[in-house]
Amino acid sequence: PPPALARPPLTLQMSQRKIFLVFIAISTVSLLLHHGGHLSWTMEAFHLGCPALRSHPAPGLKPKHTNVAFLKTHKTASTTMQNLLFRFAERNNLTVALPVQACSHQFCYPRSFTSHFVHPHTLPPNIVTSHMRFNKAEMQRLMPNNTIYITILREPGSMFESLFSYYNQYCQSFKRVPNGSLEAFLEEPWLYYRHDEKDSMYARNTLTFDLGGDKDRPATDVAYARGFLAEVDRVYSLVMIAEYFDESLVLLRHLLSWDLDDILYVKLNMRTPSSKKSLTPGLASKIRSWNSIDALLYDHFNASLWRQLSVLGPACVAREVKLLQRAQERLMKSCFGGRMPLLRSAAQIKNKDLRPWQPSGKVDIVGYDLPVNLSRGFSSQAQELCLKLIMPEVQYTRVLLRTQSLRYRQSYQLRPAQQSHTIQQPIRTSLPRHGQLQRTASGTGSTSTSKPAAGT
Ligand SMILES: *[C@@H]1O[C@H](CO)[C@@H](O)[C@H](O)[C@H]1NC(C)=O
Ligand SMILES: *[C@@H]1O[C@H](CO)[C@@H](O)[C@H](O)[C@H]1NC(C)=O
Ligand SMILES: *[C@@H]1O[C@H](CO)[C@@H](O)[C@H](O)[C@H]1NC(C)=O
Ligand SMILES: *[C@@H]1O[C@H](CO)[C@@H](O)[C@H](O)[C@H]1NC(C)=O
Ligand SMILES: *[C@@H]1O[C@H](CO)[C@@H](O)[C@H](O)[C@H]1NC(C)=O
Repeated sequence: PPPALARPPLTLQMSQRKIFLVFIAISTVSLLLHHGGHLSWTMEAFHLGCPALRSHPAPGLKPKHTNVAFLKTHKTASTTMQNLLFRFAERNNLTVALPVQACSHQFCYPRSFTSHFVHPHTLPPNIVTSHMRFNKAEMQRLMPNNTIYITILREPGSMFESLFSYYNQYCQSFKRVPNGSLEAFLEEPWLYYRHDEKDSMYARNTLTFDLGGDKDRPATDVAYARGFLAEVDRVYSLVMIAEYFDESLVLLRHLLSWDLDDILYVKLNMRTPSSKKSLTPGLASKIRSWNSIDALLYDHFNASLWRQLSVLGPACVAREVKLLQRAQERLMKSCFGGRMPLLRSAAQIKNKDLRPWQPSGKVDIVGYDLPVNLSRGFSSQAQELCLKLIMPEVQYTRVLLRTQSLRYRQSYQLRPAQQSHTIQQPIRTSLPRHGQLQRTASGTGSTSTSKPAAGT
């Protein structure tokens, strides 16, 4: 609007109004141009009273929260969450804390986490999401002090059935059971279970163990269970629940001020339907009493998830879930040649970067393959997204470590040339210290799906 500026002072007020209107018009158009993709879902949800649902970046909006610690529990859809966080980190140039090679792709699980397990090229981190046994003091030492803590739980019955089949050949407590029978194990668990042997954490209160608790406290120790629940409540801003994965993601999106695009996912690390077993009510209740602390955790955080959802408003939540599912369908169709991808067993997957880890000959963990003609009419960026969406945990971890190490070395090499007179910062030998954990306003909820760790 230069003409307006040239006018004499008398018309100044008028001109300012015009400038203002022009500014509004330009802002609106640029908003439309930049956020065209989001606009339809943003508007739709806005009319349904979801106050926090808006596009990023928009003026005056809270920036996306980027410091996140996700405690990856076993067999809870947590691999799907990890993949989502890996992709978010890559898109936003964030640093993901990854394990040193000696720890494999997990932080030396089942040992209690310490910051010595973290690869120096992945420091200081924004995000941590690989399997570990939680240790609050060490996590606070590693992560920035405004880190938001999240985890995921799964209904104890289906979770234990999944653990029993997945770790059947690894966990001694399960291997001892005649005929690999879940019923036989639950009939007399003390006959097969040894609390102190290798992999015993897969055989009792696995969620409690992963969260840093004592899996072997008896059900009668109510004070212990209550104290442990309260501690998890204090540390975690959101406890997702696998059975309500999409609803949990809606809460996550609001908690972190993220976009709908940031929570798109493809389910990973699942068994074939034929390796799943449905439970009789009797069996489910035996599982609950054998895993009594996990059962209390689940009930507590499932209730808290639904309280948080009701605060957001059922109509708003339902709307966002629908928008998420529609966006997901569109993405899947564009990635997988106009239709949903077919699940395949590992042996059928041609691209070895996409083959999921297999726990044993008895359970088939399915994955996806890319159509061979994916590259036709696709930008390399789009191809990359499609590939990463379905990349299994072990391979994605390796890819991330490679790119982050490269970035680390580049920045390390650049420094001497640019500022040769200053003392170079050596490779960090001790970790930065951070203050107390900051709790966010939101309470706890929970969602979980399970992803297994390649069992070591
Ligand atoms: C990430 O880094 C790349 C390369 O340095 C840069 O081009 C890109 O704009 C950055 N993206 C974000 C979201 O910061
Ligand atoms: C194991 O299976 C065999 C054959 O199916 C059966 O005869 C035997 O009774 C089973 N054992 C137990 C403890 O269920
Ligand atoms: C979770 O909580 C909701 C609300 O109280 C309840 O309807 C649902 O049955 C619970 N889910 C499970 C699997 O217990
Ligand atoms: C890829 O190939 C399949 C069958 O070979 C075909 O049906 C599909 O339309 C192709 N997709 C693209 C994007 O060319
Ligand atoms: C968090 O860290 C920043 C800088 O590292 C510091 O200024 C701030 O006071 C810390 N906040 C808390 C609550 O410890």
